[in-house]
Amino acid sequence: MRLWVFLSLLALNIHWEVLANGIANRYFLEKQRFLLEILHHVHEPLMNEQWRLLGKQLVIDKEQYVVYNEHMTRFYEDFNLGKLLHRNVRYNPIYADHYRQMLGLYHFFYNARDWYTLWQNISWARVHVHPGIFVQALTQLILKREDYQALIMPKIYELWPESYHDDVTVRKARNFNFANWIRYVNVTDVEEIHPQKLEPFDLEGDLRGSIEWFQAMAEVNILRMNQQKSRNKLEHLLEDIDWQSYWYNLNMGVVLTAENSDQLREWCYYQLSQILARYKLERYGQKLAYKRLTQNHYRSIDEESQFIIKKISELEAKVGDAISFRSIQLTNGSRINLKENNNWLIGLEELFPYDWTQLAVEKAVQSNILLDIRTIVRSEDFYYYAERLLDSYRWYRQVFQPNNQKTFIPSDLRIDDVQLTPLITYDQPVDVDISNILSAKHFYLAGQFVWPFTLQHRQSRLQHKDFSYNLLISSNKTQSTIFRVFLTTSERGNIQREPFYQLDSFLTVIYPGLNRITRESKEFKGLAGDHISYTELYHFVKLAEREEFDFPLNISTPNCGFPRRLILPRGGSGNPLKLRLLIVATVYDFRARQENELNCDFSKGVSRWDELPLGYPFERFLEDDALAAEISGDHVHWKDVEILHEDQKAYFEMCYLNVKSNLNRIVLKNNKT
Ligand SMILES: *[C@@H]1O[C@H](CO)[C@@H](O)[C@H](O)[C@H]1NC(C)=O
Ligand SMILES: *[C@@H]1O[C@H](CO)[C@@H](O)[C@H](O)[C@H]1NC(C)=O
Ligand SMILES: *[C@@H]1O[C@H](CO)[C@@H](O)[C@H](O)[C@H]1NC(C)=O
Ligand SMILES: *[C@@H]1O[C@H](CO)[C@@H](O)[C@H](O)[C@H]1NC(C)=O
Ligand SMILES: *[C@@H]1O[C@H](CO)[C@@H](O)[C@H](O)[C@H]1NC(C)=O
Repeated sequence: MRLWVFLSLLALNIHWEVLANGIANRYFLEKQRFLLEILHHVHEPLMNEQWRLLGKQLVIDKEQYVVYNEHMTRFYEDFNLGKLLHRNVRYNPIYADHYRQMLGLYHFFYNARDWYTLWQNISWARVHVHPGIFVQALTQLILKREDYQALIMPKIYELWPESYHDDVTVRKARNFNFANWIRYVNVTDVEEIHPQKLEPFDLEGDLRGSIEWFQAMAEVNILRMNQQKSRNKLEHLLEDIDWQSYWYNLNMGVVLTAENSDQLREWCYYQLSQILARYKLERYGQKLAYKRLTQNHYRSIDEESQFIIKKISELEAKVGDAISFRSIQLTNGSRINLKENNNWLIGLEELFPYDWTQLAVEKAVQSNILLDIRTIVRSEDFYYYAERLLDSYRWYRQVFQPNNQKTFIPSDLRIDDVQLTPLITYDQPVDVDISNILSAKHFYLAGQFVWPFTLQHRQSRLQHKDFSYNLLISSNKTQSTIFRVFLTTSERGNIQREPFYQLDSFLTVIYPGLNRITRESKEFKGLAGDHISYTELYHFVKLAEREEFDFPLNISTPNCGFPRRLILPRGGSGNPLKLRLLIVATVYDFRARQENELNCDFSKGVSRWDELPLGYPFERFLEDDALAAEISGDHVHWKDVEILHEDQKAYFEMCYLNVKSNLNRIVLKNNKT
């Protein structure tokens, strides 16, 4: 029996309670509100009296834990010796010491027998443990314990807004004094939004247009600050908070997952190739060099970069040796022939790490966005290293991967054409919750926690209009077929150096004759849309606790979904950006599986269509014969496409009219009651 199946018989099990109708019950709401309150202003000492009292002591009664392991013992020793990381030191889990402490706390959480123990321990840790360690241990708990997976963590950029917004905004928000501001309107750059409204307005489930939203937010002043002017051509991608948090969440999900490591490695390298390809397409669109990335030499190579370069060079050398000698030496000293049996998979495991915590550094070095998993994809150097790593990976696969892909080429099938609706990108306003930067004292009234206002940072972000495409396929027989659709540049040169970003993939049945298949961008898999902010989430929970709202468990978005609005690079204004689509059809082998990686849960592996490697056919370098067989012929189709970037003033006006009509609905409702 799995540990948590057993446990859930003992403890209140959220998972089972709530699945009934997709609506949270009061036990869930109590836990959810606690979580949001305990994380509120997590970088500051806890002011909430209720949770402070609860957390007076760490529960060390071993009876209260399913397992009391050495991680926990060691953590407790560190605590007693005063060796826990000090609040003022920067936490970074790639330092072995920091990671070890995080692991200790995580085990206390994970092994707690019941919610009450956990509750106490979380409160204790909030007071005594470094906030970075605390947040990561709590995140891991919610990702890994099945009975708490339904709980919602605020997004990482709402917990630590300082790391995601420009210095000027952070400074102004920090110094913002609500009391003064109310008295002297117009003294700062902060404006109040009245009537209340947050962007984007159109959320799934109509969460921001509903009457319940206005009820939940009735007592909340919405304040807004505007974004500083942007400075750099790639900022709209690299600084995008969802781009950054996507990569952070994915890596947090992978940590501490012992099962299915082969699948997980393949999936991680596929995701890395996707994010690299997407980045290169953006460079291409902005007319920046993209074929071979170079390292940024705006500063002398610092300690961190030296460390990473050393690791990557070692890896490249090992892969080079493995390829020259067709063999590899294992850590236990024995040598295996990579051409034998499935030994190439052992080599893959030996050579290519995928869990970033395996990159442990012994001593703490200076802070650097590149070594901070929250912000790593903001650094252009990241893509340079990613490319070197992927080059080794693809080279290795090309040499050792069994060569049976040709059996997947379908017969009696031809892709005749593909037709698309226009691809249009635009800049969309968005409000990002930065309330956590404000001083915590604004949120307590006579010792009681209150949340009377929210500070939102108005930013502009990349968005695209929904689009669809039609595939026209002729076939002489009925056959189940997988289609993969890639976006690439319009360069017709060497295919090895062009980025191929997988936009869509799906399974369908093709019938004899002419088939027309329509795909909507909204149904592409693996993507996630927008979610409500920390402030709204809290007020929805409160409203639900007053029994005035059925709190839907799908109120937030899956953390490991790639941001749906970022699948297209920014189009050209005036002259459209010219790109190409590549469509590849393969035979279906009846091996499709649906797992839960979208929610960063890898315990049962990852979703896939078939036994072809993820990212096929670009998981390796394509040799000439493969190029000829696998991506040319009737089962493959190339299509020129264009992306246009549009000015969207009219769109905002439409949203404004929507809000007005909702306000009218509320007035009508109030008149009726
Ligand atoms: C967790 O809570 C239990 C029971 O309240 C307590 O004995 C233990 O010391 C706590 N551990 C931590 C790490 O907070
Ligand atoms: C604040 O400034 C705006 C624009 O400058 C002005 O329209 C508004 O009347 C001012 N409000 C107050 C209360 O002074
Ligand atoms: C939650 O699920 C319901 C029912 O499937 C759906 O109508 C609603 O739009 C979903 N809400 C969100 C926020 O996705
Ligand atoms: C080393 O590990 C491999 C694979 O786990 C195993 O087959 C081999 O017997 C081991 N060699 C020694 C000397 O222990
Ligand atoms: C179907 O069969 C006909 C006759 O053999 C052939 O001309 C045609 O190319 C085939 N179509 C496809 C899609 O293979």
